[in-house]
Amino acid sequence: MPATITSIAHFLPPDIFTNKYFEEYLETSDEWIMTRSGISERRFAKEGATSDMIVPAALECIEKRGISKEDIDCIIVATVTPDHLFPSTACVVQNKLGIKKCWGYDVSAACSGFLFALESACALVESGRAKKVLLCGADKMSSIVNFQDRAQAILFGDGAGVCLIETSDDPNSGILDSILNIDGAGGQYLHQVAGGSFKPASHETIDKGEHYIYQDGQAVFKAAVVGMANVSEEIMKKNNLTSDDVRWLVPHQANLRIISATANRMGLSNDKVMVNINKYGNTTAATIPICLSEWLDKGELVKGDNIVLASFGAGFTWGATYIKWNMNK
Ligand code: UT7
Repeated sequence: MPATITSIAHFLPPDIFTNKYFEEYLETSDEWIMTRSGISERRFAKEGATSDMIVPAALECIEKRGISKEDIDCIIVATVTPDHLFPSTACVVQNKLGIKKCWGYDVSAACSGFLFALESACALVESGRAKKVLLCGADKMSSIVNFQDRAQAILFGDGAGVCLIETSDDPNSGILDSILNIDGAGGQYLHQVAGGSFKPASHETIDKGEHYIYQDGQAVFKAAVVGMANVSEEIMKKNNLTSDDVRWLVPHQANLRIISATANRMGLSNDKVMVNINKYGNTTAATIPICLSEWLDKGELVKGDNIVLASFGAGFTWGATYIKWNMNK
């Protein structure tokens, strides 16, 4: 049986930062941010770490499914802003949730983290190695954003999405296919220079701001437009899906223009595309599960919907996953 999502929830920090917040101290404007990215506000967690956003979403996800925490046998956390480089955020989450017997690990694939971790979760469940995997996509981007750099400060936000992966009760629905890619040659355009073994943190690296995100926006933009559109079209063809068959494109929320290019290539009208970048900005590994959770809560994502998840991010990493959704709110 294929793996499937049996419950999902999300958490967003309460504090909203509008474009006006940046207008007050950076040379930028609401108009520039809206037209170039589609973002009008985002959330930043004033306190706590990535795990502190995961825990409330995880508790809600478990409660919605009506299971005990102890039923979870594996926790996977996709993030580029782990609480610590080690131990893994999965360990921190396990401890905070108070689950006595399970295992888990973190996945580092930036904006494609959720899709890559989903693939691992599916493999565990479909092989019978695990029954219930708690899959978390979460990032506290405000912990690595350079707030003095107008080209990146306005783009990102904090948030978490958590879902449960189990086997489907139907052989024809669930997480049915995926195409995933990495290309390390793209690493030069989007990375964090210091803080790893390549360049351990020092006074010098801090003074140079090398602990922040480095992004060549235009280079990433060009690669993302091509990469996300290509892989989305590829997964449709591979699964004989026409634009009429697809109910929802669930794209990584990095830039509204990248999302539109992908939807155009797939031949999808706007009413078939999940977009909330305007409210939350780019929450990296959290964008896709937050969309799924919000649309399910609204009752707009329903059993039987064919959905395509698509992402592109640092690495480069990119991919698409085809799901026949098989749960209702
Ligand atoms: O999720 C991870 C993957 N990341 C992405 O997918 C991000 C991909 N890149 C993008 O989304 C876009 O490249 C950005 C939104 C980051 C930038 O948009 P752009 O249309 O590529 O702008 P640009 O970088 O070419 O900059 C155009 C101009 C520059 O000024 P000059 O050199 O033309 O005078 C920038 O300095 O806009 C300037 N600029 C700004 N102006 C006002 C850059 N940031 C800002 C700003 N406000 N916040």
